[in-house]
Amino acid sequence: MIQNAIDILKTSKILFVLTGAGISAESGIPTFRGVDGLWKNYSVTDLATPEAFAKNPALVWEWYQWRQEIISRAKPNAAHTVLVEIEKKFDKFLLLTQNVDNLHQRAGSKNVLELHGNIFRSRCNTCGMVYETITKTEAKAANVPTCTCGSFLRPDVVWFGEPIPQDIWQESLSFLSKADCAIICGTSGVVWPAAAIPQIAKTTGTKIIEVNLEQTPMTPIVDVSLLGKASEILTEIVSHLR
Ligand code: OAD
Ligand code: ZN
Repeated sequence: MIQNAIDILKTSKILFVLTGAGISAESGIPTFRGVDGLWKNYSVTDLATPEAFAKNPALVWEWYQWRQEIISRAKPNAAHTVLVEIEKKFDKFLLLTQNVDNLHQRAGSKNVLELHGNIFRSRCNTCGMVYETITKTEAKAANVPTCTCGSFLRPDVVWFGEPIPQDIWQESLSFLSKADCAIICGTSGVVWPAAAIPQIAKTTGTKIIEVNLEQTPMTPIVDVSLLGKASEILTEIVSHLR
């Protein structure tokens, strides 16, 4: 099966990659679904919606700061590193990630778009000003950082019930429509709109390679499904690409 993926990639010049939490699992960052997934132990409605933030911003920040700490200590794993190598082997490459952990950028990937934001950025809930990092002076009032305008800052991530950044989505679709191949790695394929990517790719004849520990709702329509760890499968693939 891996040979099918290698054959597709060898004849491809334009590569699109979609990643999800599974690619960072081997860095020790919890995924969202599955036995040890965050949504098993934490409530989406209490922590990852605009309503949750309106009700209890300190609780929401506490949870995001806990995740920031885990992510800060984590390092990119072989899957992230191999994607940096893969990027160099194609004429055009776009990596769209649902992850907010910055690990693709830390590994050295260049053309990365974030569909769900970035956990290290924050943005004003009122004026929309974006802060790349939060300094101690901004973190006042019961651990809820504030903007220079006085309003609360919120993590610059996409919460449930919120629209995804349209410019990023449109740029991704435009790239996908020209791509020869799409690798979909470490995502459960249940969160929209990313979950629609295989179907969208089909309409323009883009070949789809899925890399995941297990089958997902996307598996029936992909061209090649590779079951296993992202680090191992991507390492094997790159060793066959010139
Ligand atoms: P999920 O936690 O839903 O899915 C992780 C996927 O990675 C699963 O399909 C696992 O089988 C797979 N996986 C785990 N370890 C792996 C490994 N070492 N190698 C390969 N695959 C592995 O994460 P996402 O699909 O990213 O959104 O979740 C999508 C969105 O739902 C997230 O961005 C987040 C979440 O709620 C928001 O917070 C808006
Ligand atoms: Zn503001």
